[in-house]
Amino acid sequence: MAGLIPNNFIDDLLERTDIVEVIGHRIPLKKKGKDHWACCPFHNEKSPSFSVNPTKQFYYCFGCGASGTALRFLQEYERLSFPEAVEELARQAGVEVPREEQSPAQQERQRKQRTLYDLMGACADYYNHQLFHHQNAQAVQQYVLNRGLSEEVVQRYQIGYAPEGWQNLMNHFANKDDANEQLLATGMTIRNDKGREYDRFRQRLMFPIRDIRGRTIAFGGRVINPDDKPKYLNSPETPIYHKGNELYGLYEARQALRSFDNILIVEGYMDVVALAQFGVKNTVATLGTATSRAHVQRLFKLTPEIVFCFDGDEAGRRAALRALENTLAEIHDGQQARFLFLPEGEDPDTLVRKEGHEVFMKRMRQAQSLPDFLFEHLQSQADVSSLDGKARLASIARGWIDQVPAGVLHQLLLQQLSNLVGLPLEQILSSFEAVKPKLAAEPRPANPEAPPPGDYWQESPFPDDREPGTNNSGGTYAPPKRSGLGVQFGLIHRCLAWLIRHPTLARELDLEQLNHLPEQAGKALLTQVVDLLQQAPRTDLYHAFDYLCQHGLRATLAPIAASDYLWLEEHGGEEINSADRARLELEKLVTALTKRAPDAEYEALKQRIIIDRDPTVTTEEKQRFLSLQRKKKQPANQ
Ligand code: UTP
Ligand code: MN
Repeated sequence: MAGLIPNNFIDDLLERTDIVEVIGHRIPLKKKGKDHWACCPFHNEKSPSFSVNPTKQFYYCFGCGASGTALRFLQEYERLSFPEAVEELARQAGVEVPREEQSPAQQERQRKQRTLYDLMGACADYYNHQLFHHQNAQAVQQYVLNRGLSEEVVQRYQIGYAPEGWQNLMNHFANKDDANEQLLATGMTIRNDKGREYDRFRQRLMFPIRDIRGRTIAFGGRVINPDDKPKYLNSPETPIYHKGNELYGLYEARQALRSFDNILIVEGYMDVVALAQFGVKNTVATLGTATSRAHVQRLFKLTPEIVFCFDGDEAGRRAALRALENTLAEIHDGQQARFLFLPEGEDPDTLVRKEGHEVFMKRMRQAQSLPDFLFEHLQSQADVSSLDGKARLASIARGWIDQVPAGVLHQLLLQQLSNLVGLPLEQILSSFEAVKPKLAAEPRPANPEAPPPGDYWQESPFPDDREPGTNNSGGTYAPPKRSGLGVQFGLIHRCLAWLIRHPTLARELDLEQLNHLPEQAGKALLTQVVDLLQQAPRTDLYHAFDYLCQHGLRATLAPIAASDYLWLEEHGGEEINSADRARLELEKLVTALTKRAPDAEYEALKQRIIIDRDPTVTTEEKQRFLSLQRKKKQPANQ
């Protein structure tokens, strides 16, 4: 085995590499402003949201969140291991990769890791022993009984008891060299300001978290006394525990079952254990985090079907949307995902105890399929009874469907969309691609008395806010301006585009003022984005965007982030990257939004005259519409 690649060599190599060259060599890039853009090679899409930033030497896809350095790109795109990717970059740079023998320090690090696993295993044994033998264990034993846990399941999950006291672990390992350092390194003890160490877990029911090989890598501890806080205390991230990758119960499930028809993902430790006791052994839980793409990827290696289980409330549905988003990009032919929503106030633990194995299994079998859940969500976003609503729906759908890799599911979703909006598949597809609006229904017989609607549209000082990504402006008779955007870009979209590019500016906006804007499509989205950006922990472009995506906004915002709008606004050099320019534009946009009258009568007439070309519109109504429109165009002086 060749020796290790020195770290400073990798740094140097990245420094002398141009990421634009590395990526541009493999996929066609198009320069817009300072960045380079392409259709993302890591998810299926028809318009580019994959950007390469030469200043940061970093790539980022607004559509799926793929990101990294040139090395990372090679690993993912060419499916290379890390050392292979380094070799490849070095080859291109014309340098030799130096190798160093494992230093004693590195050997030492490996040895230490091994001992950390041993230590955690010993902690699990200790806690498990205490559950049965500690002098004050009656209360916790009673608690275990009350929760209905059998001894068998307690042992299978090696559940334990962390007794009261501050020095239990240190006393327990008193004869072991380095034990105190190892306890600290694994987060089992905490060092206070005075340099004194004490047990992290006290008076708690302990759930060991094991990796796929069965090694204990962390713990979750539940209070026994309901007044103690927090309800669950978890190990911190350590050299052997990264919670975003791990799933509680996966090791135990694999021990119990040779193969899985499906795997159920739930939220809690207790849910996993209770379901296992009731014979639903194919259950895992995320560890106090949302389901990540890493989780989905991991599970799809073990099973063709994932069933997500959520509470039936609002928070549950939000979490489900996030899981849906992370699943879409990872799901391939032959794989399925379902969504199980529980009745309000229940979790899997309470439900399976109430209803038993059979009824719970039935719920699982009847869980909503991914397409059903997706379309139910889409239909809640747009009203398909109107033509306008159908167009909206198709354009929102696009953001989601584009993330699915080409294959059967992708086709199926397109087909379902086509059925729902009542348009042939080809038309849907071309509407996804073309700049010209295609989603209008059959051309209607011209109504000679109606005013030429296209003109009204063009004249309107406030082009309607459309969902991002749409090519449709309501009908073939009202073509969008050929701005090259492929999008009828409304004021709200423009605000969002600047904000996404300059997230810190959100802090200068007044949320109150935005809340008091006249009601209009997209207002809720704008205030939500500003609200989130004001709280975002990191405010650089990519981290802030990731933060928005963590709140389920990726499908909506990616087309705005990747639209051509800002690049068309660029008249020279740095401009769109300049915060001053952005601030100025935002001010103008917010002013325009403030002036926009919430005029239901105008909107209703517009729908009938321009969109529907309703032949029953009277001359008076037309005149009324024209006068309302004139008023709208006047500066707000009333
Ligand atoms: P729940 O609050 O739904 O608890 O948290 P639960 O699983 O139903 O637990 P019981 O039935 O009251 O014992 C769900 C999961 O969220 C994480 C834990 O992983 C928990 O299992 N969590 C919850 C924490 O990490 N910390 C907390 O304080 C609460
Ligand atoms: Mn519970």
